[in-house]
Amino acid sequence: MASSVLFVCLGNICRSPAAEGILRHMAQKEGVDIHIESCGLGDWHKGNLPDDRMREATKKRGIALTSRAQKMEPEFFDRFDLIFVADKKVMNELYKFADKPEHKAKMRFITHFSSTFKGQDVPDPYYDGEAGFENVLDMLEDSCEGILSHIKSKG
Ligand code: 4NP
Repeated sequence: MASSVLFVCLGNICRSPAAEGILRHMAQKEGVDIHIESCGLGDWHKGNLPDDRMREATKKRGIALTSRAQKMEPEFFDRFDLIFVADKKVMNELYKFADKPEHKAKMRFITHFSSTFKGQDVPDPYYDGEAGFENVLDMLEDSCEGILSHIKSKG
């Protein structure tokens, strides 16, 4: 089974790289082969590691984040099977960017397959304190469990 997943947020230093790291960790643990990347709508942080506060918060949960920030590119719509976006603002922007119906059809909210947070925005924790990061990670863990189950069910 091989599948490819792209996570998209605004800056690619908080929510989407955390989702990437969490899903990769879960997939490796279960021996599921998925190619996973993340990106941002903006390129303000291009080439940077995820935000220190997010790396610290995921480290406490046993996950190391090592990806480098990259900006969303049009070719990503073809390169990935599933595209998960952090919130409505990102969804609206990406929708404008996606010119083919098959590209739009790949897009879902990150929480789409979550048992607890289905359809909710993953809030931007950039200007929040520690509790904001923990809340985001709770949402991402539940969402990634759902995404992994979905991919496994597709066999
Ligand atoms: P993210 O959070 O979209 O979860 O990576 C943000 C990080 C940086 C900025 C905005 C959101 N920024 O404006 O620099």
